[in-house]
Amino acid sequence: MKILLTGTTGQVGRALQLPLAGLGTVLAPTRREFDLARFEDLRSILDQLNPELIVNPAAYTAVDLAEDERQLAYRVNAAAPNEIARWAARRNVPLIHFSTDYVFDGSGHIPWCEDDITGPVSIYGATKLAGEDAVRSAGGPHVIIRISWVYSNHGRNFLLTMAKLARERDELRVVADQFGAPTSARAIATAVGKILGTDRESIHRLERQANIVHIACSGETSWHGFACAILSGLKQRAINVKAARVISLRTDEYPTKTRRPHNSRFDLGKLRDIMGCSMPSWQEALDVELDELSKVLRDCDRASQ
Ligand SMILES: NC(=O)c1ccc[n+]([C@@H]2O[C@H](COP(=O)([O-])OP(=O)(O)OC[C@H]3O[C@@H](n4cnc5c(N)ncnc54)[C@H](OP(=O)(O)O)[C@@H]3O)[C@@H](O)[C@H]2O)c1
Repeated sequence: MKILLTGTTGQVGRALQLPLAGLGTVLAPTRREFDLARFEDLRSILDQLNPELIVNPAAYTAVDLAEDERQLAYRVNAAAPNEIARWAARRNVPLIHFSTDYVFDGSGHIPWCEDDITGPVSIYGATKLAGEDAVRSAGGPHVIIRISWVYSNHGRNFLLTMAKLARERDELRVVADQFGAPTSARAIATAVGKILGTDRESIHRLERQANIVHIACSGETSWHGFACAILSGLKQRAINVKAARVISLRTDEYPTKTRRPHNSRFDLGKLRDIMGCSMPSWQEALDVELDELSKVLRDCDRASQ
């Protein structure tokens, strides 16, 4: 099977290469070769590539910058998925599309279910919701996978930012009133591999089971709790860190251009009960990434001695 995978320089796209390779030949065009911002060109490129499965984690992900770059964010997150989904629907090609907890308004304390009412409060969230709507209304076989609080050992993310700051500063200051489950790109890729199954038929079966599913590690914490776990995990692994503590902040003490959701918890019942996929706890997933990150940091320290 020929699989088109977008966004392979990103956290999730990179991690998905391994499980997808077990399903078929992965085509991983660069941004230059498959630029979602130039959505008008995508149809003819898709004709040439002629994939039998499309997996689309690529997105405009700069949440704050999206407020100033609305048009670009819409092109990449909504207009491009629209083109891809229409092409896929015409050929009955399954499309696996990635979305986010930012489609919700982030209120309350109850984990979000797939069918809960959406209400994005940011441009980024609105563009991702428009992408979901486009994929759905194209009418082809599709699964929308919403994920949240993603990190990995590559790219720009909370784990790497905290690890860097912990080695530079005496203390870290992190918001403690936003809740979710930190989820490694690796854990997402493993879950996607499991639910996709091993062949074309299992993908169509998945698509008949659920058109939308939430994936996150199990359990919950705040960004502050996540930062504390990163700091203590680095110390346990004997990594040199300067920071002695993590100060907890309220959201209003750490202003950002875009309103951040207080509640990013996902209900994992559909993933577990219908798709038979259970997720590791966020602490277990973090341990795996910290083991890998610690090796890199130790090598850096050795090289600089
Ligand atoms: N990160 C999170 O915490 C989070 C949370 C919830 C949902 N999500 C969603 O999960 C998915 C994967 O996120 P991620 O964390 O892997 O994102 P990421 O690390 O920021 O990677 C984004 C990928 O999209 C590519 N891309 C951006 N603009 C493009 C364009 N115009 N044409 C082609 N490719 C383009 C990037 O390529 P370049 O390297 O060339 O920029 C990169 O490969 C996205 O749909 C995102 O909305 C992420």
